[in-house]
Amino acid sequence: MNVVVPKEVVSGEQRVALTPDALPRILKGGNRVVVQSGAGEAAGFSDSQYAATGADVAPDAPSAYANAGLVIKVQRPNDDEIGLLPRGSALIAFLQPLFAIETIEKLARAGVTSFAMELIPRISRAQSMDALSSQATVSGYKAVLLAAGALPKFFPMLMTAAGTIPPAKVLVLGAGVAGLQAIATARRLGAIVTGFDVRPAVKEQVESLGATFLASAPHEGAEGAGGYAKELPEEQQRRDQELIAKTAAGTDVIITTALIPGKRAPILITAAALAGMRAGSVIVDLAAEQGGNTEGCEPGATVVRNGVTIMAPLNLPSSMPQHASFLYARNVAALCEHLVRDGRLALDMSEEITRAITVTHDGAVVNEAVKARQTGVGT
Ligand code: NAI
Repeated sequence: MNVVVPKEVVSGEQRVALTPDALPRILKGGNRVVVQSGAGEAAGFSDSQYAATGADVAPDAPSAYANAGLVIKVQRPNDDEIGLLPRGSALIAFLQPLFAIETIEKLARAGVTSFAMELIPRISRAQSMDALSSQATVSGYKAVLLAAGALPKFFPMLMTAAGTIPPAKVLVLGAGVAGLQAIATARRLGAIVTGFDVRPAVKEQVESLGATFLASAPHEGAEGAGGYAKELPEEQQRRDQELIAKTAAGTDVIITTALIPGKRAPILITAAALAGMRAGSVIVDLAAEQGGNTEGCEPGATVVRNGVTIMAPLNLPSSMPQHASFLYARNVAALCEHLVRDGRLALDMSEEITRAITVTHDGAVVNEAVKARQTGVGT
């Protein structure tokens, strides 16, 4: 089967779906790998590195896509790219299946079998394919570096001849994969770190990284399917917002990461909390893609309100493209090993991982959650 790695076309996307080190794992299954010229350039991987590990390099997108059996990408395809996908081919990418319904319907009409990396189930067997986690690790790390760069203070405690500098205080809201990486990174830089999450199971993980867990009233039933958080009742949300506001007043940096799958991100930092923060403090809102956890944040921009810098970066993993691609490529290679047998797609819809990630097949949308969005049920 021809496995194709196109150059990403979304503006600002620097990652590539397959790195040269992961390429032999795809070839091993009896496949041919075709890489579009320049696909890895922004992530630091040259055409000659791909060629040296056994790929054929195609000069442009049409020649790369021609005869594709499986296309692997980072971002969901635009209309031009969908037009290049041969009928009967398959596609692996971050498809945003619950938000980009139109794209999904176009893929179905184009006769493409599509797999969404976001839908990899959170089970041990699928851990090596879990791209949401690998990319969240990059975001959590990078968020702390952004905050440190914007903070007019040191992170660590310093004892100098000119006086002693106290360590920065960092609050991390949402202690999933990104949040835990942010906690670990801020600790390594010497900050005093506090973590907060609605899932009680997280307390131990936060403390094991040397941070304090911010205790709120118990959040019963806050954990939903697959270990993800659910939306909270209004009263509980308000109590949490007040607790966060009180803590924020004495904090230098807040990293927010709280997400609820398929929903707008919950507001954790209200305008009132912002008004109580010290001038010079920094917020990095990692939930910007889903509207943000900070009232008044502007996704994709940095704004200053009452002297507080609020950064709401989009697509942070792309800002560290080499290692983000390295990790993503390993996730994709593991998934290919799962889906491809003897140079052919071997789809077993009774198998949990395959069933969970298949969004379109045989000209139709087959994923139940996406179908519910199509009809407006469960939105
Ligand atoms: P996520 O990116 O969906 O959300 C980030 C964090 O925000 C979560 O910890 C969530 O509990 C928290 N959150 C949501 N609403 C909140 C609120 N109102 N206030 C404070 N915090 C709030 O989560 P992520 O990182 O994808 O992890 C979700 C779950 O999946 C976790 O239980 C994690 O341990 C689990 N997981 C399991 C894996 C596996 O078994 N293979 C791999 C990766 C994660």
